[in-house]
Amino acid sequence: DDLDKLEERPPVLTIMGHVDHGKTSLLDYIRKTKVAASEAGGITQGIGAYKVLVPSDGKSQTCVFLDTPGHEAFGAMRARGARVTDIAVVVVAADDGIQPQTTEAIAHAKAAGVPIVIAINKIDKDGANPDRVMQELSSAGLMPEEWGGDTPMVKISALKGENVDDLLETIMLVAELQELKANPQRDAKGTVIEAGLDKAKGPVATFIVQNGTLKQGDIVVCGEAFGKVRALFDDKGKRVEEAGPSIPVQVIGLNNVPSAGDEFEVVGSLDFAREKAESRAQA
Ligand code: GTP
Ligand code: NA
Ligand code: MG
Repeated sequence: DDLDKLEERPPVLTIMGHVDHGKTSLLDYIRKTKVAASEAGGITQGIGAYKVLVPSDGKSQTCVFLDTPGHEAFGAMRARGARVTDIAVVVVAADDGIQPQTTEAIAHAKAAGVPIVIAINKIDKDGANPDRVMQELSSAGLMPEEWGGDTPMVKISALKGENVDDLLETIMLVAELQELKANPQRDAKGTVIEAGLDKAKGPVATFIVQNGTLKQGDIVVCGEAFGKVRALFDDKGKRVEEAGPSIPVQVIGLNNVPSAGDEFEVVGSLDFAREKAESRAQA
């Protein structure tokens, strides 16, 4: 890649943690929506990807948030979320403390080599004990900055919005240190974060573009699927012409449903794309 073509790209932030510790509520507060309340059974079952404008240093900065499920059954999604993220935001409920999927989320973040920011949530609740959570995290190897360690921890209430600004500021500081860059001028490549079959649209995949810019009309191979990008939709379902670095986008035009976690890349011709996909299918 031409180093001189590198430009700043938005940070990708993945929210992880134990079931019901308040991940979706936190994102709802940041996005000013109410997804958590409308989820069937109150349980997140897929990865949601959202582009958000976060106030930072008097300006607005684009960030991409991935919401992951906390339910035990969805470990693979947490692992995937950790692999495509720049920072793992681990939510721990102050009235419940470290639980099995908290430990699992921390392990995924460490395996992926991404920095961790802890959000100690639900501090508004009776029985909230943020100090105990910090002690538990210290025992698990994450020493709070407040105690001289190097893991930022912010005590918040996602429900009331308390200290969420502090949390966002902390996240942005960690992101700045990473000097995140990509080349928007090259052909796109990235990762499939979700995929399925839509009755009307056919195979639908949510990509996160990690480098380059994906455009309508591009020919892509992802895992054993391939096709010409017929249309792109942003996180609000609005049709867009293209998606640059860090941006999540829904893609239609693939011949098959790829697997979540597959990498995608833009190639020069449909024949080449077909060959590549078919050779993988036979391997
Ligand atoms: P999964 O995605 O299923 O793992 O859950 P989640 O981590 O996304 O939690 P969710 O946002 O669905 O919240 C679970 C419950 O906790 C809901 O009833 C929320 O209203 C409640 N909750 C979330 N944050 C807070 C908070 O700061 N304070 C209080 N009191 N309740 C909260
Ligand atoms: Na929940
Ligand atoms: Mg959720």
